[in-house]
Amino acid sequence: MAFELPPLPYDKSALEPHMSAKTLDFHYGKHHQAYVTNLNNLIKGTPLASKSIEVIVKETAKDAARAGVFNNAAQVWNHTFFWHSMKPRGGGAPTGELAQAIARDFGGFDKFKEQFKNAAVSLFGSGWAWLVADRGHLKVIKTANAETPLGSGETELLTCDVWEHAYYLDYQNRRPDFVQIFLDHLVNWDEAAKRLGGK
Ligand code: FE2
Repeated sequence: MAFELPPLPYDKSALEPHMSAKTLDFHYGKHHQAYVTNLNNLIKGTPLASKSIEVIVKETAKDAARAGVFNNAAQVWNHTFFWHSMKPRGGGAPTGELAQAIARDFGGFDKFKEQFKNAAVSLFGSGWAWLVADRGHLKVIKTANAETPLGSGETELLTCDVWEHAYYLDYQNRRPDFVQIFLDHLVNWDEAAKRLGGK
């Protein structure tokens, strides 16, 4: 069965004024939809057509002959995860076990924010900044283009899309402003805490 664009977990205007409905119209409605459509066209009539998105990403990673399938499948997964990494009136600081793990592994919440922002801003070109748990330890990583930690053995807790299409309508070329707003007003720490707890 063909993949469908997964529903957004909130209304397109729910993240305003930090992320506009216009950005969600294009980013979710056009870009995310295009990855779904492209993926369906690429896998139609192949054995991958019956696999889950996670299995397709894992099976085609590092396979140059299937780079097109990987890029579109990974972008479908990354975007779905990104929407769940944000919530209306998000941001602030995490609590509980996640807050303790951040303090332990980064030396404090402010130091985590600095590392995350540096990763997001220093990524050359298009890609993603992530907070992941690697064998119980938290770390910040960045991935280029469609690359994803999915399948690496790390647990993804949070991601920020730093492709220009994620912020250009609202922030033009000011990626650092977008990442700061993401951290201050959009991050869904509840979701990250749930994933750390394996729920
Ligand atoms: Fe994107």
